[in-house]
Amino acid sequence: MASIKRVLVDKEAIQTMVKGLAKRISSDYEGKELIIVGVLKGGFVFLADLIREITIPVVVEFMSVSSYGSSTKSSGVVKIIKDLDVDISDKHVLIVEDIIDSGLTLKYLKELLLSRNPLSVKLCCALDKPSRRKVNLEIDYNGIEIPDEFVIGYGLDYNEKFRNLPEVCILDISETNA
Ligand code: IMP
Ligand code: MG
Repeated sequence: MASIKRVLVDKEAIQTMVKGLAKRISSDYEGKELIIVGVLKGGFVFLADLIREITIPVVVEFMSVSSYGSSTKSSGVVKIIKDLDVDISDKHVLIVEDIIDSGLTLKYLKELLLSRNPLSVKLCCALDKPSRRKVNLEIDYNGIEIPDEFVIGYGLDYNEKFRNLPEVCILDISETNA
C-alpha cells in the first residue's frame, strides 16, 4: 500500500501561489478574450482555485490527456482522451496544468493548440519539477518549484488515489512496487 511520507507544500503556500498567479493573469489579459483550458484530471483542483481569484471574464474549457499509465514514470506518450468543444481561433488560450515533469505533455498540447490559429497560447502550472525536464519549454505562469519527488494531493494522484488531499504531499514509494 502507498502512503504519505510528508507534506511538501502546505495550504498557505498553495493559496499564496494561486493568488499571485491569478493577479498576474488578471492584469496581463485585461480587455482580452481568454479561454482557460484545464487539463484533466490532475489540473481540476488548481483550476478551480485559480479561476476564483481571477478578476477578469474568462471562458473555462477542459481537455483530458494521459501521459502516464498507472506507474510513477512518464511513458512519453500523450493521448488525447477528450478534446476541446470550442473553436479557439482568434482567442487567447491559457493552458492550466497541475505539474510539469518531463514537459512532454504540455509541449505536445501547446503545439496542438497553436496549430488551431489562436491569438496566443500560454502555459500555467501549479508545480514544476525543473530537474526532470526532457524538452525545452517556457512556462509563462509558474507556481512552485519542487524537487524530484513523486507528489500526490491537490489534484495529483497515484493510481487515481489521493487527489482529494488539500496539501501537496510526497508519496512514500518504499512501500509500493511501482
Ligand atoms: P510530463 O509530461 O512528464 O510533464 O507529465 C505531466 C503529467 O504527469 C502531469 O500532468 C501529471 O498528471 C503527471 N505527473 C508528473 N509528475 C507527477 C507527480 O509527481 N505526481 C503525480 N502526477 C505526476
Ligand atoms: Mg496532468
